[in-house]
Amino acid sequence: MKFVSLIGLICIWVCGALALENGLARTPPMGWLAWERFRCNTDCTNDPENCISEKLFMNMADLMVSEGYLSAGYNIISLDDCWLSHNRSESGQLQADANRFPNGIKALADYVHSRGLFFGMYEDYGTLTCGGYPGILNHLETDAKTFADWGVDYVKLDGCYADPSEMDKGYPDFGSLLNQTGRPMVYSCSWPDYQIEKGIQPNYTFIGTVCNLWRNFDDIDDSWASVSSIIDYYGDNQDTLIPAAGPGHWNDPDMLIIGNFGLSYDQSRAQMSMWAILASPLFMSVDLRTIKPEMKAILQNKNIIEVNQDELGIQGRRIFKKSGVEIWVKPVQPSLGDNRSAALAFLNRRTDGTPTRVSIVLRDAGLTSTSGYKVQEMFDGLNLGIFHPDNTLTVVVNPSGVVMVKCTIQKKKSLVSKKKLVGK
Ligand SMILES: *[C@@H]1O[C@H](CO)[C@@H](O)[C@H](O)[C@H]1NC(C)=O
Ligand SMILES: *[C@@H]1O[C@H](CO)[C@@H](O)[C@H](O)[C@H]1NC(C)=O
Ligand SMILES: *[C@@H]1O[C@H](CO)[C@@H](O)[C@H](O)[C@H]1NC(C)=O
Ligand SMILES: *[C@@H]1O[C@H](CO)[C@@H](O)[C@H](O)[C@H]1NC(C)=O
Repeated sequence: MKFVSLIGLICIWVCGALALENGLARTPPMGWLAWERFRCNTDCTNDPENCISEKLFMNMADLMVSEGYLSAGYNIISLDDCWLSHNRSESGQLQADANRFPNGIKALADYVHSRGLFFGMYEDYGTLTCGGYPGILNHLETDAKTFADWGVDYVKLDGCYADPSEMDKGYPDFGSLLNQTGRPMVYSCSWPDYQIEKGIQPNYTFIGTVCNLWRNFDDIDDSWASVSSIIDYYGDNQDTLIPAAGPGHWNDPDMLIIGNFGLSYDQSRAQMSMWAILASPLFMSVDLRTIKPEMKAILQNKNIIEVNQDELGIQGRRIFKKSGVEIWVKPVQPSLGDNRSAALAFLNRRTDGTPTRVSIVLRDAGLTSTSGYKVQEMFDGLNLGIFHPDNTLTVVVNPSGVVMVKCTIQKKKSLVSKKKLVGK
């Protein structure tokens, strides 16, 4: 079970009562989620390959394993909206649409488990889901039990058709009911997002004691404009959002749209890097049957995933923003005393069609260890040499693209060696 790690146990000491302690999601959860790519397509008559059906999820589960996503860390496959029947069963339980999920959800969860994956569920705190299917309001206890009986490992709880001012009670109530089933289930909340829309300031300290992850901003859609707006939101609100994140409790900027229709190759690298820097949950929403090899390689890049999954669980910070160029820093392991290593993302938002040269003195990124740092470009693993706090690192960043490096703290003092320039 990848959700549980030793670091989790250490955090119970250090982090005390500040966070949800169900032992889950000690690093940002990773998986595949249907929504962004497959939406509410229920037309299995005319579009049998792409409609929301058990066949789609079984296909994706197979590909998660055979195409290497599971080995890369993506271990959850999750339903989103529109899997439900419009009617509960006679005994009041939720049930799947019988035509599209003829074997029911328990059988699908069993299938997913048989592939070595975790199974994710979607529901909504309100009277209806956003797509108009039955919500859990007035059925909280029954539904928590049903999810446990079905073998659900992860619950995404949306917030349509609900009163955001009641969510401070409703989301914790359902969280307790999930807990009382005795089955470990990661709890993904939309609570702050709906509160912010209504002008209510979410209490992230409280939310972090209830949910393992939560959405705070708009749904992502298939465009660079959408990705950019999310990056801006996270930069502009970082003083509120960074302290809220940590092992077991994460801000969720929404799905990875890499491999779909809206992002170029460089923009896809940029989303992957930024989601790593933000310690974001990594949920792909893409057709794994048709994804191009270079996009698959981005999603499976070991170095970038390692930054995202770093055990410190610190969300990165935007430290520079000027003329369309941004620099973001995420502290990562290993540490030397109080000093940490760091991943840096140089993000170019400019569209004037030539790459931009960006420089930073390491000290200005908070890298002050006199022992020096081994600097490595992350996508191709190119070694750029040893840098000291007063050395200048220069990279060349493509338009609407990114260069990501990791500065690994040296345990022993080392001399400045060769310095290369990254980029094309
Ligand atoms: C099923 O739900 C629909 C829509 O909510 C409702 O109109 C219909 O009466 C229900 N059917 C049964 C058999 O309960
Ligand atoms: C329920 O909550 C308690 C107290 O936080 C925790 O120790 C336990 O692991 C939780 N159990 C489940 C199944 O989530
Ligand atoms: C936020 O929640 C925490 C933890 O429950 C609580 O101690 C604190 O008083 C709350 N803050 C506000 C402003 O309500
Ligand atoms: C660690 O960082 C501090 C400044 O934050 C610096 O004074 C100290 O020299 C650093 N330690 C080493 C071994 O470089």
